[in-house]
Amino acid sequence: MSIRIHPSILAADFLRLGEELERIRTADFIHVDVMDNHFVPNLSFGLPVVERLVAGSPLPLDVHLMIENPAQWAPSFAEAGATSVTFHAEASEDPVEVARSIRSAGAQAGLALKPDTDIGDYLEILDEVDLVLVMTVEPGFGGQSFLDRTMPKLRRLREAVNASGLEVRIQVDGGINEDTVAIAAAAGADTFVAGSSVFGAESAAEQIALLRANAAAHSHD
Ligand code: DX5
Ligand code: ZN
Repeated sequence: MSIRIHPSILAADFLRLGEELERIRTADFIHVDVMDNHFVPNLSFGLPVVERLVAGSPLPLDVHLMIENPAQWAPSFAEAGATSVTFHAEASEDPVEVARSIRSAGAQAGLALKPDTDIGDYLEILDEVDLVLVMTVEPGFGGQSFLDRTMPKLRRLREAVNASGLEVRIQVDGGINEDTVAIAAAAGADTFVAGSSVFGAESAAEQIALLRANAAAHSHD
């Protein structure tokens, strides 16, 4: 699958959000981190912000729900116009039900796993999702360091997706920069979330191009 770069607006300057969206026009999606201060120890955006981003953004939205009770909330983000809605396995008693509710509300469904959550239990439900997000930091904050220990899980997921023949994207999120993007691409990721490395760059467009090139150079596809 083609490489995709998803800048995380958690690292944007919220006072100039419109201009920040212009800076990342060459990216593929905007990654929107929704946090509830229960699933993670931080609060960020909710539905009204997502609705405005859908209305005003030139790029599609990839919503990452770091919240308790995704069964209650996920369909509303799909109905608000997010192109994909990703929820956490650890927060969900019935991930298949949540994934189906997202798909029936018209969005692509994503399943996210924290760094120490085993992938084994979820390999049998790959046909229920469009994307699996392997977190490469503990969710909650931008600007943390990439956790190499998540790479064996990424490789196992890549093997399972390839063996299944399904079109499931494999996303990584957390600590992605021009070096770690190559490590994650070599381990099987095709979709890369990057917050501080893109918005902290002098030229976001050049950083997006660099991430894309380094991922492509190390991807096996
Ligand atoms: C962390 C969020 C990430 C974060 C990434 O909980 O899910 O999307 O914004 O930020 P960086 O790229 O700075 O690690
Ligand atoms: Zn995220």
